[in-house]
Amino acid sequence: MNSKIFSMGINGLEAFVVTIESDISNGIPSCEIVGLPDASIKESKNRVRAAIKNSGFKFPVSRIIINLAPADIRKAGSLYDLPILLSILKSNGKITDIPEKSAFIGELSLSGDICPVNGVLPMTIHAKQNGFENIFVPEKNAVEAATISGINVYPVKNVREITDHLQKEKNISPQPQTNIQIKPSEFTLDFSQVKGQYNVKRALEIAAAGNHNVLLIGPPGSGKSMLAKRLPSILPEMTFDEIIETTKIHSIAGILQNNSPLVTQRPFRTPHHTTSTAGLSGGGSIPQPGEISLAHNGVLFLDELSEFSRATIETLRQPIEEGIITLSRAKIALSYPCSFMLIAATNPCPCGYFGHPNKQCTCSPAAVSRYLSKISGPLLDRMDIHVEVSPVNFENLSSTEMLETSETIRKRVNEARNIQKERLKLINVNSNSKIPAHMLQKTCPLTEKAKSILEKAFNKLGLSARGYDKILKISRTIADLDKKEKIDFDHICEAIQYRSLDRKYWQK
Ligand SMILES: Nc1ncnc2c1ncn2[C@@H]1O[C@H](COP(=O)(O)OP(=O)(O)OP(=O)(O)O)[C@@H](O)[C@H]1O
Ligand SMILES: [Mg+2]
Repeated sequence: MNSKIFSMGINGLEAFVVTIESDISNGIPSCEIVGLPDASIKESKNRVRAAIKNSGFKFPVSRIIINLAPADIRKAGSLYDLPILLSILKSNGKITDIPEKSAFIGELSLSGDICPVNGVLPMTIHAKQNGFENIFVPEKNAVEAATISGINVYPVKNVREITDHLQKEKNISPQPQTNIQIKPSEFTLDFSQVKGQYNVKRALEIAAAGNHNVLLIGPPGSGKSMLAKRLPSILPEMTFDEIIETTKIHSIAGILQNNSPLVTQRPFRTPHHTTSTAGLSGGGSIPQPGEISLAHNGVLFLDELSEFSRATIETLRQPIEEGIITLSRAKIALSYPCSFMLIAATNPCPCGYFGHPNKQCTCSPAAVSRYLSKISGPLLDRMDIHVEVSPVNFENLSSTEMLETSETIRKRVNEARNIQKERLKLINVNSNSKIPAHMLQKTCPLTEKAKSILEKAFNKLGLSARGYDKILKISRTIADLDKKEKIDFDHICEAIQYRSLDRKYWQK
């Protein structure tokens, strides 16, 4: 006897329909899974066998072949346990009726409980888009799946519950639609806690408004980490599309919080400098998104940038520009989006005091240059804004003056971001950092004075074409914060200043 059950698989960020068939025939008792399953699926037969027995059924003593179609896409993970079990019970005649247009996902425990799996959100979206009317998911994933309307989500606790439901003996009630509440986030780390450092706060405000990358360079204890960690408190609110995209990635990585099924706050990822290349970019035997993809639509903060292995940070070059990373494995190539804002912090040398206003650096020139050369020219070129974080002075540190809160800064950031969205909606980008080169002339009109200072700077600083584009984009953001349509002299001057630090540290 033969039976067909539908399930879902994940390839990169996209889901696909998997059809599971099982055939039970006479012969030497065996159970074989075909259709490009990986090792994790092959283990599934043992779980299915135990779950069937422990749920009060008999495992057929026959020759069983289970086929996962399409057979040309590699399938991984434990989510096929439940559909494989149902397919065997159907072939065996223990279940007679499976509603049409239904998909099933879930991992089994040996006792027959159904355990949560990763990637439920993209699978539910795909099921709905492909005309499925019902999706049966592990109970713990139901809130996540029910954020999608237009498909019935059935939360399943154990095998007995689903077999009773399918045999119409005891109904499972569909999960009510998850109420999506995008509450204003509350942050304990606030910019008002940082004394002085007005220039750095300003640079971070510009970065947040236009989604620009920032490199912070300065001596130990000057507040680089402190400032960067407060960046989430001034980032613009996420759009609904951004929320869904980011949640899909977090769902696949299995890092969604149980109490909040959607990622409504921009991610702020802080990988340690010992992180491997695969940890940062993604990969592994069961491919997983890396830190750069988990930071999608948010911030990737690389603290102590010079301590990262050079090979690891060099892999960032292409994803920074393209906002997507493609990983090629033996039989597959898959892509994850990774449009993030990169914030990096570093000391200027091994002792940390090179360029310090009143402390002596004890490093040799060769040691300084070796230290900084970990950050290659091309990577430096991709950092839009370079800021020197000087040690905070006593006057600022001991001042009791009330400082501007993150909420006030975020209001300005949101206003500037809305101006950008409106201007850029026709070219389908939502921040100045993403303006394509061919659109720069049209979107960044300059006053005569601005044009002439930009020309002088270009020749004097020996800017690269990328450097020129970056100055235009940063000055566009500065003008947006200033609510000016045309970029003026002051805007360009400020932008140029953020691109000139490399001369002090890297060109000696
Ligand atoms: N501007 C400031 N206002 C208030 N406190 C500050 C300021 N700068 C530094 N501090 C204090 O100094 C501590 C150290 O700062 P932080 O860790 O950010 O330095 P850092 O520049 O990252 O140093 P390192 O290069 O060693 O990583 C902070 O936790 C904070 O308590
Ligand atoms: Mg630090």
